[in-house]
Parts: sequence; structure tokens; C-alpha cells
Amino acid sequence: MIETRFSPATLPTAGGLALLVVEGGTPSALHQSADLASGGALTRAAHAAGFTGTKGQSCVVLGGEHLSRIVLIGLGKPDEHSVRGMEEAGGAATVALAREEHAALAVDGMPPSHAAHAALGARLRSYRFDRYRTKEKADDKPKLASLTILTDDTAGADAAFTPLAAILHGTIVSRDLISEPPNVLYPAEMAARCVALAELGLDVEVLEPAELEKQGWGALLAVAQGSARAARVVVMQWRGAADGADPSPLAFIGKGVTFDTGGISIKPAPGMEDMKWDMAGAGTVIGLMAALAGRKAKVNAVGVVGLVENMPSGTAMRPGDVIRSLSGQTIEVQNTDAEGRLVLADLLWYAQDRFTPRFSVDLATLTGAIIVALGHEHAGLFCNDEALATNLLAVGEITGEKLWRMPLGKAYDKLIRSDIADMKNIGGRPGGSIIGAQFVQRFVRGPWAHLDIAGTAWATKDTDTVPKGASAFGVRLLDRLVAEHYEA
Ligand code: BES
Ligand code: MN
Ligand code: ZN
Repeated sequence: MIETRFSPATLPTAGGLALLVVEGGTPSALHQSADLASGGALTRAAHAAGFTGTKGQSCVVLGGEHLSRIVLIGLGKPDEHSVRGMEEAGGAATVALAREEHAALAVDGMPPSHAAHAALGARLRSYRFDRYRTKEKADDKPKLASLTILTDDTAGADAAFTPLAAILHGTIVSRDLISEPPNVLYPAEMAARCVALAELGLDVEVLEPAELEKQGWGALLAVAQGSARAARVVVMQWRGAADGADPSPLAFIGKGVTFDTGGISIKPAPGMEDMKWDMAGAGTVIGLMAALAGRKAKVNAVGVVGLVENMPSGTAMRPGDVIRSLSGQTIEVQNTDAEGRLVLADLLWYAQDRFTPRFSVDLATLTGAIIVALGHEHAGLFCNDEALATNLLAVGEITGEKLWRMPLGKAYDKLIRSDIADMKNIGGRPGGSIIGAQFVQRFVRGPWAHLDIAGTAWATKDTDTVPKGASAFGVRLLDRLVAEHYEA
């Protein structure tokens, strides 16, 4: 990942330079002096290329005597260049300047918060998981090492970046976990990485299998029982609420299936390697907790993640098994590949029972059906509380981690009635993601939202702030939810 720093707005004398252009706006002071220095080449090149500053547009100009290249990046109309737009522009700048070693991005004439979000976008976009590459040639790696953000207010930008640095760190924690191969990241290892985050001021507890057994986590343990890698549950607490403020925490619950073979209801071989990121819900909750602690959020929050591996073996659960969940409710397992909901059932029950949270939000790569419904643009939102749903949808628009509300209802719930137990874990293909949510809701007792992130946890293509791969979808969304609506 590149470095970013804020410097006063003077024209650089070497490297690359990105200039942001508001559609129909006046060029910034730096833009004007760069144009002057180039003898009007910038204006001519923009004209020739039909560059007007439309959002997403860019135009590369060779830099002349000093600079090696100048890129113009379109921000769109003034009302479009929100902080999110600045993140996208920062990301686009790192791509356009990837062949330079050092480059600058001019944000003069803009508030310091815009400068800070441009830096965040640049760093989010330049993330790489290259831990296991031993033979990559220098030429194949991005060259860009540092991006200097040129701003009228460096102190203001530094201050605005401080909380964003914590959010960035949380995102990296999350992306690193989600990217790890499943032979490296199994439940005990993932728990160990949570423990390491205690240095941020988080209180981290690991529940071992014997303890889970004793407490009655029958659903989560049924998923884990086929694997040689034993289950863990990790509870991470952040206590940042001001004295006198509401001490009951916000609860974040994550599905952490470190590998999902499907179990005895085994998945087909093609694409099964994707199931290493079936722990993305947990990875996101862990990154979120790191972000909240890192920026010392004024709130109490708890993250509870269930870490298991879903394997077929002589000890694995079978289709037809009836298991007893932590809540006491019994479940007929008709498909061992519908395992995420079993993990969430016990996690939600535990979190609500122990913490009486203000709300519970669970994140899970729960169903392939949500990809059929929403593709990779929106995560599915299932929610029993109107205020919570409204807030979540709103922060989705602000952060670009977008949600789409899906229905819940009695007719769907009927589909998981069992002939032998309180419920079964599947209910037919139509509305598959709704049925999954409906199952989870059987274990819910307060305000609750379920985010099905199967379509958004892993980016299938590069976007301005997310390179192909683990997205950490949900870290920025939920951090923003907390910041905007629950901190005091
Ligand atoms: N982990 C999968 C869902 C998934 C699919 C995540 C694709 C990411 C990408 C989940 O455990 C699963 O297998 N769900 C089944 C449920 C079915 C058996 C009711 C599915 O979606 O097919
Ligand atoms: Mn599965
Ligand atoms: Zn799964």
C-alpha cells in the first residue's frame, strides 16, 4: 500500500501530478499555474480529448520539462463531489499515476475533510495482498510508493485523517484476514489474530470448544464437528461510551466459516476455493472493532464471531441430524451446506442473552441466492426495526457500501417448518436468501439487521476504492452507522 502525506499547495517539480476537475467549475489555483507552466498544454489536451470533468473521466498529459505526467480527473458536477467522490478520485489518481514512483494530488480550494478522504481512497485502492508472492518482478508491481496530497490546510487535513487512519487500519485487518488461504487461517489461528488486537484497547475473550460444549452451543458445534480444526468463538469488547451515556452495547455478529466445503452435502469442485472467504462476516466484524477502538469511538460495542470449518468426515453432521441450539430450539439439518445460519443462531442468542444490546447486526456470506437477486452491487438487508433499517440504508449511500432492503414475513417462515424438530435449516430454492434470514430471525429478540454479504465480500473486479479481492464490505458502512447515529 502506498504512503500518503499532506503538504502545502505548491506545484511539485518532479514526478506525477493529478488535478481534480469539477465539471463546469473554475480550475483550482494549482491547476491554473500548472496550465500556465505548460504553456496552456493542459487546456489544449483536455479540449482535444473531450475532457470536461464528468465523473469518472480522466485525461493524461505528458508533464513537459519537470513533471513526468499530469492527469486530469473528473469529479462531476459540484453536488456530486461528496467525500465519497473524493475517495473515488483519490483511488483513481493512484491508478492513473501507478507508473510514477512519487506523485502529488492537488486538492487546493477544497476543505480539509476532502483532502483526508482523497488520501483514504488512494490508500484503499492501492491495497495489495502479496504476502505469498516470492518471485514477482519489480516491473510487475505498482511503482507508486507515495502520494502527496496538496492542500491549503495541512493541519486540518491531518486532523481529519486521524479517524480515517483507524478506519483504514480496520479495513486492512479485515482484508488481510479474508484474503488468507484456508490452510493458514483456520479457527484457532483466526482467534489468535483477534487476541493480537487487544493492543488497541479491545477486551478480547476466546471461548474454547470445551466451554462451548458446556454452555450448549449445539448448532455452532454441529458445523464444526466434521473438522480436525476445532471451533472458537471470540468476543471483542470496546468500551468507549462517555459517563452517563447509554452503557448497553451495539452488537456485531459475524459468520466465520474459515472454509465451507458444504460438509456431507458437499459443494461441486469448481469455484470451491472461493469458500476460503466464507469467514468474511467475521473478518468484517473484527476489522470494524479494530476501527472503533482505533479511533476511540464514544460508544460501547461488542463483536462476537463464530469460527468453524465445515468439512465432510466420519464425524461430520449428517442430513437428517436433529441438533439442539444454544437457545434450546431444535433444528433438523436437511442440508449441511446451509451451515452459516446454524453458526449465526448460536452467536445471536449468546450476544443478546449476555449483553442485551441496543441492536444486533449480523454479517454473513450466507447465501448464493443473494448474488442471484442483487449481484455484486448491493448487500441484502433484512431488518425487523424501521429506524435501524433507515439508518443503515442512509450510511450505505454515504459510504458507497450499498444495501438493498429485502422482505421478511410469516409466509417465508412457514417454509422452514420441520416434521420432527422446531425448524429445518432449508426451505426450498425460491427466495433462498429470505429463507436464510427467516431462519436466523428465529433466534432474534431485539432490534436486528442481517446483512447477507455473499455478493459483496469479494470484489470480482477493480473499482475506484476496492482492488479485486477482499473488499471488507461493511467496515466503513458500520463505522459510519455508529459515528452518525449512536455515538455521544
Ligand atoms: N457460504 C455459502 C454461501 C455463499 C455462496 C457465499 C457463494 C459466497 C458465495 C453458504 O454456506 C451456502 O452454502 N449456502 C447455500 C444454502 C443452501 C444450501 C440453502 C447456498 O447458497 O447454496
Ligand atoms: Mn455452505
Ligand atoms: Zn457458508
